[in-house]
Amino acid sequence: MADKIIRTIGVLTSGGDAPGMNAAIRAVVRTGLGKGLKVRGIRKGYQGLLNEEIIDLSARDVSDTIQRGGTILQTARCEEMRTEEGQQKAAAICKKYGIDGLVVIGGDGSFAGAQKLANLGVNTVGIPGTIDLDIACTEYTIGFDTAVNTAMEAIDKVRDTSTSHERCSIIEVMGRDAGYLALWCGIANGAERILMPEEHDYDEAAIVADIQECRKRGKKNYIIINAEGIGDSINMAKRIEEATGMETRATIIGHMQRGGSPTCKDRVYASIMGAMAVDLLVAGKSNRVVGYKHGQYVDFDIDEALGMKKGIPQYQYDVAKALAL
Ligand code: ADP
Ligand code: F6P
Repeated sequence: MADKIIRTIGVLTSGGDAPGMNAAIRAVVRTGLGKGLKVRGIRKGYQGLLNEEIIDLSARDVSDTIQRGGTILQTARCEEMRTEEGQQKAAAICKKYGIDGLVVIGGDGSFAGAQKLANLGVNTVGIPGTIDLDIACTEYTIGFDTAVNTAMEAIDKVRDTSTSHERCSIIEVMGRDAGYLALWCGIANGAERILMPEEHDYDEAAIVADIQECRKRGKKNYIIINAEGIGDSINMAKRIEEATGMETRATIIGHMQRGGSPTCKDRVYASIMGAMAVDLLVAGKSNRVVGYKHGQYVDFDIDEALGMKKGIPQYQYDVAKALAL
C-alpha cells in the first residue's frame, strides 16, 4: 500500500508529444508549489526516470511555456519500462528521489506504466495527453484540438489547389490506430471519403466508381482523408489516377500535426487537468486518471479506465458520409 502523505511530486511526459503538455506541466508545478510541495521534473518519460534524469522545478522554470508546443520535459518510448525489472527499478528510483506522487502525462501505454508503479507503492495520477483522442475514459485528450486544427488548415490549402487543377487529393492525417483526426477533418473539410483504421475494409472500387460519378456531375475536386493506419497514400493515388483518369495527388501531413502553439482549449483543459492531478494526489488518491466526460472534469481508477473501450461514433461517421453527397 502506498504511503499517502505527499511531500514531493514528480511529473513526466511519455509517448508521443502533444501541444498543451507544457500547460499541464506548468499547472502541476505551480499547483504543487502552491500547496507547499517540492516538484521534480523527470526528463524523457520513463526512459529518463530509469536514467535518473530528474531535476527540481521552480515556478520560474515553467514561465513562458504555456504557449509552446512540444514538451519542455521531452518525451520517449521506453521498452525497459514494460518489464517487471524496469518497473521495480523505476519505483526504487522514485523512492530514492523522495517522489511520493507521480503525474504521468501520456496515453494508455503511459497509464499502464503508472498502474504498475502504483502497484509498487508510488502514488500515481495520469493525465490524457495524445493528439489521437483515443483514450476511452475521456472525451478530451491534450493536443487533439490543436492537431485537428493544424490538419484542417493544411487540408483547406490542399483543397484550393486541388480545385484549381480539378484533381483528386488523398490527404493522410496521423493516427496509426485511431481515426478521430481523420473523422473530424473529414467533417470539417467536407471530404468525399474518410478512411480510418477502424473501418479497415474500405472499398477502393466503390471510391473509383464514386469519383467517376462525381466527375460526370461536374465536381471540381475529390478529397479523400486517409488515416495513417490505412496509409499507402502514394500508391493509392497512383491506382486511383489510373482507374479514373482523374489526376490524383497524395499529401502526407505528418508530424507538423504534433507541433505548434496549443489552442486556447488545449491550454485551458490541460491547465485544469494538471491542477486536478495534484489535488488528487494531495487528497491521498493513487492509480487514478483524470478525464473529461459530459461537461465535467472527472477521475477514474486506472484499471477501470484501461478496461474501457472507445470506437468511432457511428452516427458521426454516417453524418460525414451523408454530407459528402
Ligand atoms: P501512449 O502513452 O501514447 O499510449 P505508448 O503506448 O508508446 O504511448 O506508451 C508509452 C510508454 O509507456 C512506453 O514506451 C512504455 O515505456 C510505457 N508502457 C506502455 N505499455 C506499458 C505496460 N504495459 N507496462 C508498463 N509500461 C508501459
Ligand atoms: O500517438 C500519437 C501519434 O502521433 C500517432 O498519431 C502516430 O501514429 C504516432 O504517434 C507516430 O509516432 P512517431 O512519432 O513515433 O512516428
